[in-house]
Amino acid sequence: MTVTYRWVQWNRHKRRYDAVLAAIVAGYLVTFIGVGTMTHAPPREVGLPVLAMRALATLAIVLLHVILLIGPLARMTPLAAPLLYNRRHLGVTFFLIALMHGVLAVGYYGAFGVREPVSATVGGHGSFGSISGFPFELLGLLALLVFFVMAATSHDFWLSNLTPRVWKAMHMLVYVAYGLVVLHVALGALQSERSPAYAVALLLGVALVAGAHLVAGMREWRRDAAGARAADGRWVDVCSIDDLQERAGHVICLRGRERVAIFRYDGRVSAVSNVCAHQGGPLGEGRIVDGCITCPWHGYQYVPDTGQSPPPFTEKIATYELRLEGRRILLNPVPRQPGTAVDPVRIPTRQRDEASPS
Ligand code: HEM
Ligand code: FES
Repeated sequence: MTVTYRWVQWNRHKRRYDAVLAAIVAGYLVTFIGVGTMTHAPPREVGLPVLAMRALATLAIVLLHVILLIGPLARMTPLAAPLLYNRRHLGVTFFLIALMHGVLAVGYYGAFGVREPVSATVGGHGSFGSISGFPFELLGLLALLVFFVMAATSHDFWLSNLTPRVWKAMHMLVYVAYGLVVLHVALGALQSERSPAYAVALLLGVALVAGAHLVAGMREWRRDAAGARAADGRWVDVCSIDDLQERAGHVICLRGRERVAIFRYDGRVSAVSNVCAHQGGPLGEGRIVDGCITCPWHGYQYVPDTGQSPPPFTEKIATYELRLEGRRILLNPVPRQPGTAVDPVRIPTRQRDEASPS
């Protein structure tokens, strides 16, 4: 979390992550170019610029798949959380690699004629009506422009200035750009490729990304449908105090409403929106750390009974009223304005002793 903005907030975890990422990038490029040089001996030799362009392109498309898979994976298993935590670094690295590929392509295919290189490469030839002659470079350029906007606005500075809703909607364009990249490859490199292996790899990639999103969406939908409670009354019976673990979240689905995260801590129970104000992370899958609900995605924190980030931070989430009847927790399904203080339910000491699941 930040109050003033720093371009990169390093910590030990992020340094280690970036070192591993840099090693993978360097290892991939060196291996691709090295193996390419050895296997393309004269007379089938391929020049270094073309090899480098292909090395950067294939690395970029692999990284793009990884980036697109992190979201659904994080919804399926907490093991993917460290990848999610550093997705921005991965995204910017991907953009720089794709940019280098585009710059090399323009320099190699467009710099030697009389025309200006960019238009000579992306608009100088081909026909929109032909599959094998489609100016596929234009699709690459369009995708690159979208990735540029996303990389340039990836910082939290833009997230809070554009508002999370606009920022999120803008970043959904990644799927449009992904489609453009798939077409760029299908109408470009694959047209001159005799081996079906590349087409199969591309199809598998698309199937993997689509399948992972579908599975993650279905799982959430099923979980919501199975656990959803009608939310038409003033008070809804949502769970027992025995269902709540000390300092851990418990997610409640209310039909037609946002999910609610319920936390039990120090003999009290509070309920807040399950949606983190940062990038919509699932707060109910987080824990209470230092007295604050802590988002499992990037660690934003909220005071349980006010839904406000501890000063000097300013993020706010909706809070909910609770009531205790015997051992049952009842919830008023109408959310209070984000940041509104609501009295937590206090568990009587006698009941606390009876129910101590963790
Ligand atoms: C200004 C933007 C771009 C231009 C001008 C461009 C141009 C090209 C060209 C000329 C090729 C054929 C290279 C060859 O085989 O000789 C190519 C292939 C490719 N491009 Fe792009 N590209 C651009 C952006 C992108 C982006 C953003 C991606 C994202 C991943 C991408 C991914 C690929 C891939 C995967 C290939 C196939 C590489 C191979 O042959 O193994 N390109 N591009
Ligand atoms: S989504 Fe980033 S901290 Fe919650």
